[in-house]
Amino acid sequence: MLLKRKGCLVKRTKICRKKIFIKRHYEFYIGGGRSSVSGIIATVFGSTGFLARYVIQRLGRVGSQVVAPYRGESKWINHLKPMGDLGQIVPVTGFDIRNREYIRNAVKNSNVVINLLGARYDTRHYKLEEVHIEAAKLIAQAAKEVNVARYVHVSALGADVNSPSRWSRSKALGEEAVLKIFPEATIIRPSVMYGHEDYFLRFLGSMTRFWPVYVLIHGDKKVQPIYVDNVAEAIINSLTLPNTRGSIYELGGPKVYTMREVAEWLKEILRYDKRIVQLPKQLEEDMVKILSMHRIPRITTEEYKDVSDRVVSEGAKKLSDLLVLKPSPMEREGFPGILHFRRPVKFDELLPEDKAELEREEKLFLGEKNPY
Ligand SMILES: NC(=O)c1ccc[n+]([C@@H]2O[C@H](COP(=O)([O-])OP(=O)(O)OC[C@H]3O[C@@H](n4cnc5c(N)ncnc54)[C@H](OP(=O)(O)O)[C@@H]3O)[C@@H](O)[C@H]2O)c1
Repeated sequence: MLLKRKGCLVKRTKICRKKIFIKRHYEFYIGGGRSSVSGIIATVFGSTGFLARYVIQRLGRVGSQVVAPYRGESKWINHLKPMGDLGQIVPVTGFDIRNREYIRNAVKNSNVVINLLGARYDTRHYKLEEVHIEAAKLIAQAAKEVNVARYVHVSALGADVNSPSRWSRSKALGEEAVLKIFPEATIIRPSVMYGHEDYFLRFLGSMTRFWPVYVLIHGDKKVQPIYVDNVAEAIINSLTLPNTRGSIYELGGPKVYTMREVAEWLKEILRYDKRIVQLPKQLEEDMVKILSMHRIPRITTEEYKDVSDRVVSEGAKKLSDLLVLKPSPMEREGFPGILHFRRPVKFDELLPEDKAELEREEKLFLGEKNPY
């Protein structure tokens, strides 16, 4: 009995010491598993989006509670529930970016707020400015009222108040508004992101696959594509590092490409020998106008107007400052998301090195006794 008590006492003191250590040295502990307690209770706005599923997955994996406001049907959010321990991911329906009371209630029990709201075009009910500026203001105000420990606002590389594109201007004004209300906010500016559900490689991949020619848009524009999970990792790290408050981070991948180089790479890996054409300016503008009329446009006129490079500027705080030291190359992580666009070939048409690779993989999966 005594021993048992003693053991219990020892165990408790250890836990207490650990808690005190965590409290003193880190606000949150992100070294545990999904059933541990990281101390993070995060409200993630824009939870149904592309980046959010990677952020929420990383939060759930270290034992955090996540409040996920969303609009629409529950089927848009159900995939997030298994990302954390049982009951730790809490979807809250009825999200309206104009509803101050709803936003207050969503953040009132949290110590972290992450704003991933973003729109690429105006919809019938919401203009770009409402999503990027007005909603960001309301969320920052609510976060300030509860005095959350960490506030992360995701903007975009190329956000500029003087840009000809309304999208870039609204992104920049959103940042300014947030910093005015919550000066300790961490601003994350990612370059174009790619991954399984992206808008970037999937559009260009489908163009390589289905269009008669590859139409190059802004061929000399430089981009530094970044894998979406690297951005998510950087966001989670920013919650625990002490010096990220009030800082702006520009996140880009390991390599800078021109849009022409991206096109060449896509042609090669998707095995389509399409001609790359640069349309005359007027024709290009008309094409973008037609494409942006689609219900879910692959490219919008506001995106087209933004001709600035999406490259991390010199002297800016980078991915490595958020302890993401080995960003994934696009050649490796970008490929699986567009694999379905690849031209199928017969075994005889394969290059000798591809044949050898295929044979090696077959051996690996089927063993030496290959029945086929
Ligand atoms: N994707 C990129 O390449 C890229 C590059 C640089 C920066 N960013 C920025 O990174 C952030 C996340 O990007 P993402 O690609 O994950 O965006 P996303 O997939 O388009 O998701 C945007 C999220 O915002 C929500 N949202 C938009 N308008 C709303 C409205 N009026 N009311 C309520 N919710 C609304 C969407 O909800 P619904 O699902 O209900 O519409 C969705 O959850 C954004 O701020 C974006 O601007 C993205």
